[in-house]
Amino acid sequence: MQRKQILVTGGAGYIGSHTIVTLLEEGYEPIVLDDFRNANPAVIKKLQKLTKKEIPFFNFSCCDFDKLIQLFKKYSFSGVIHFAADKAVGESVVNPLKYFDNNITGLISLLKVIEKYPNTNLVFSSSCTVYGNPTSYPVTESFPVGFNSPYGFTKLCNEQMLMQFHTALQSTKICSLRYFNPIGAHESGLIGEEPIGAPNNLVPFITQTAAGWREQLTVFGNDYNTPDGSCLRDYIHVMDLAEAHVSALKYLEKRKEGCNAIFNIGTGIPTSVLELIKVFEQETGKTLNWKFGPRRAGDVPAIYANVEKSLKELHWKAKRSVNEAVLSAWNFQKHSLITNPSIK
Ligand SMILES: NC(=O)c1ccc[n+]([C@@H]2O[C@H](COP(=O)([O-])OP(=O)(O)OC[C@H]3O[C@@H](n4cnc5c(N)ncnc54)[C@H](O)[C@@H]3O)[C@@H](O)[C@H]2O)c1
Repeated sequence: MQRKQILVTGGAGYIGSHTIVTLLEEGYEPIVLDDFRNANPAVIKKLQKLTKKEIPFFNFSCCDFDKLIQLFKKYSFSGVIHFAADKAVGESVVNPLKYFDNNITGLISLLKVIEKYPNTNLVFSSSCTVYGNPTSYPVTESFPVGFNSPYGFTKLCNEQMLMQFHTALQSTKICSLRYFNPIGAHESGLIGEEPIGAPNNLVPFITQTAAGWREQLTVFGNDYNTPDGSCLRDYIHVMDLAEAHVSALKYLEKRKEGCNAIFNIGTGIPTSVLELIKVFEQETGKTLNWKFGPRRAGDVPAIYANVEKSLKELHWKAKRSVNEAVLSAWNFQKHSLITNPSIK
């Protein structure tokens, strides 16, 4: 049987690269589009080594409609997973135009192509940031939406664009996944969270500090109204998240009619930043050098998911623990030390 071809925009990035592995395991044929603004091209080689498969990849921006349409002429995509976006909350506060430009133009360009290829299913990377600053937890998909940063604004705007696009073209099948906080790495240690420059997320900071690449970890804020004063998050293993994309594709494939569905993708379990540090220290036997710093713009005190809808409709559930996730991240970090000793 012919394997279904899936375009993976941003497929060399953190979540995209892990999803490629799962797509291949599940019998799909992923084709990567990435302009490598936040990924190392070596990731593609690592993916090929890990999966022992050729992975076609294209290096251009998904904002480039002309090139994108050529790609659709070349392949017969049954679906697109649209990861490509800029994602640093803090940077978006300082440079909002960069975020409007990439995150909004990228989706416009993709939708213009899907308008011409309306049988292409679309899975979109949304974020729990669209809940703004929720006042109760866990959050369900029907909670009020909002934003705390230009990045969050672009994700909410993207969701609204998808809703209105689907209203106009009702046969399209679209699924937005609202990720909570992805952490961890593939068990091989070959791929993981490896941003260009300083990381924005907690776990690469933890592992890079433990490895001696960074002197000290800063925990932003100790006076939130949470049990230990640090932020509460819903940390999800990136391989569980990768599997959610395959469940979303299968969900869309099974539907006879168009849809625009939204799902929370988290564990439903809150963990504080300080708890996560403790788990890391217990699991690895490392002592982290960390200090408290001031609160960071755009951070909400607490958020975690109600995951009933994704269990019921996507038949997907996170299986891996936070302990497994931090250990896998540390395994990846140790591997990076071996393969990239010069990167600081
Ligand atoms: N990591 C998180 O904490 C998190 C949480 C919620 C949602 N998301 C969303 O998930 C998606 C993937 O996130 P990630 O953590 O893997 O980020 P990432 O930066 O590691 O991956 C994004 C990839 O997209 C590429 N890219 C960006 N703009 C592009 C463009 N115009 N054309 C082609 N490639 C482009 C980058 O080079 C990178 O490889 C993003 O849309 C992000 O907003 C991430």
